[in-house]
Amino acid sequence: MTNVALPETDQAQAITDIIESRRSIRRFESGPIPEADLREMLRLAGLAPSAWNAQTWRFVVVQDPALKEQLQAAAYGQPQVTNAPAVIVVYSDMEDTLQTAEDTAHPGMGEAGRSQQRQTFDGAFGAQDVAQRGQWGLAQANIAFGFLMLAVRGLGYDGVPMLGFDPAKVRELLDLPEHVQFAGIYPVGKRAEEGFSHHRHSVDRVTTWK
Ligand SMILES: Cc1cc2nc3c(=O)[nH]c(=O)nc-3n(C[C@H](O)[C@H](O)[C@H](O)COP(=O)(O)O)c2cc1C
Repeated sequence: MTNVALPETDQAQAITDIIESRRSIRRFESGPIPEADLREMLRLAGLAPSAWNAQTWRFVVVQDPALKEQLQAAAYGQPQVTNAPAVIVVYSDMEDTLQTAEDTAHPGMGEAGRSQQRQTFDGAFGAQDVAQRGQWGLAQANIAFGFLMLAVRGLGYDGVPMLGFDPAKVRELLDLPEHVQFAGIYPVGKRAEEGFSHHRHSVDRVTTWK
């Protein structure tokens, strides 16, 4: 049997449950996450949409205890970094995206699609400086970060999104070039605490209807 689709109502229920049950978790059970699960988290995150299908996101999966300790120091000592069995670093590499633009053309579009993609990217970003197009790339990577959080929950894991770290130090620790921008780091594992219940603005507080 291959890929039997759930009825639409069950799918809606599943995503609703995932969104409702996701909350920031900062304490995790010990023990490694199977690589197949980590790969599936990243595959699902990569199904995020992006403008021109640019897929600017890149990931580093940190499981090495010594490297996690260093990451924790770069994150001002926040304990969830070493408490989690894995830390997924989500960043945007717009320079790599630009250099390999053809790879993001849909194969169904053939050679014409590849050269069109090249023209599109050169036209849109060729005249921009690295910082300017880096901002655009980060906006795309943030979408994948959101998908990652839901994918992690959907696979029965939890995590806490983090931007509380020194980006220059994290670049250095992970041997990343200076132009990359971080969507965030994401310590993940099986939850060992319940976290806080949701506290959010009401729909009316943040919405104008016209
Ligand atoms: C972009 C981003 C950065 C965050 N950075 C940190 C962080 O550095 N440390 C931390 O403990 N929580 C961090 N958080 C978690 C937020 O505090 C948390 O998402 C928020 O309070 C809502 O709670 P919830 O995730 O449980 O719904 C961050 C969340 C986001 C989305």
